[in-house]
Amino acid sequence: MRQIAERAEVSIGTVSHVINDTAKVREKLRQRVLDAIRSLGYQPSQLARGLRRNETNIVVMIIPDITNPFFPAVVRGVEDVAYGNSFRLILCNTDNDPRKEISYLNELRSYRPAGWLVIPAADSVMAAQLESAAASGAPVVCLDRQPPGWKGDVVLVANEAGAHSATRHLLRMGHRQLAVITGPLHLTNAVERLKGFKRALAEAKVPIEPEYIQEARFNRQSGYQAAARLLRMLPRPTAIFACNDLMAIGVLLAARELDLHCPDQLSIVGFDDLDFAEFTAPALTSVYQPGYQLGTTAARLLLKRIQGSKQFPQKIVLPSELKIRHSVASLSPAPPSPSRLRQREEALEIR
Ligand code: RIB
Repeated sequence: MRQIAERAEVSIGTVSHVINDTAKVREKLRQRVLDAIRSLGYQPSQLARGLRRNETNIVVMIIPDITNPFFPAVVRGVEDVAYGNSFRLILCNTDNDPRKEISYLNELRSYRPAGWLVIPAADSVMAAQLESAAASGAPVVCLDRQPPGWKGDVVLVANEAGAHSATRHLLRMGHRQLAVITGPLHLTNAVERLKGFKRALAEAKVPIEPEYIQEARFNRQSGYQAAARLLRMLPRPTAIFACNDLMAIGVLLAARELDLHCPDQLSIVGFDDLDFAEFTAPALTSVYQPGYQLGTTAARLLLKRIQGSKQFPQKIVLPSELKIRHSVASLSPAPPSPSRLRQREEALEIR
């Protein structure tokens, strides 16, 4: 600042008022300061400025798995809203490790973020940590997963309903030996999807085989391992509902290794409807969840809180939708073709 003050021939205080907009400065002096800033190529440190004022334009977003193609769409939604409103995003990846998550929550507090967007890694330990982050004054919005005990804002997708419609589709196609590969059952969205699966079976009065419920970790490898276990069972399930698309890819791989053709010998449904779902062979039937909209909705809610909204905590649930493609075969006997019907009628006439 001293250099700017010398170049503009004003006091350091005047420079500081122009930069921080803390007092009215005569236009002529202001222009001299701005010219000096330009000619010296000075860039104010946003962080230092934020720390002085005790507020920044930083939004911290914590996601559990940057390698899972579901999350970039969510981040994109957040970033579009944040950037459009002059906020800047710090993105942290926890690899689903609660310890990493806690260290981000604790350490980044000293950056005085304006707000937090959190997709929790593990629901069990989160609520208390999030509350203490929120207690430091910056609002917190959870998305995609809701830690039990968390009483703040949350934006989710209709997980139970999505899983229910996926399972009903399999039942309608005649499947009765239905298996499910769940996500980690300490996560609310994994629990909700399992609930939807069980509800559809209960409504159809189809018994649930406990061994047909396999817990995995929402990644391809654990989906593959769970499918390998299921496909060795007797009787072998005729259909597997994988509670996310990466695990569904794992199921496809396990089936391929065992020379089981999808869908003729094994039907598969996923959840997420990631871009690649259309391009697998066969194209994957999957439950679409609006990742981008999840991000934009959560970011808008956070911005309202940053601007001081005192509304009661909100729980927003976005709809999911089953996208039917080619990975499910029908086990119901095919309706007789018209020529078959004619033959039958002729046979009846002869008799
Ligand atoms: O694919 C990752 C899964 O974990 C998604 O279904 C999403 O809901 C997340 O929580």
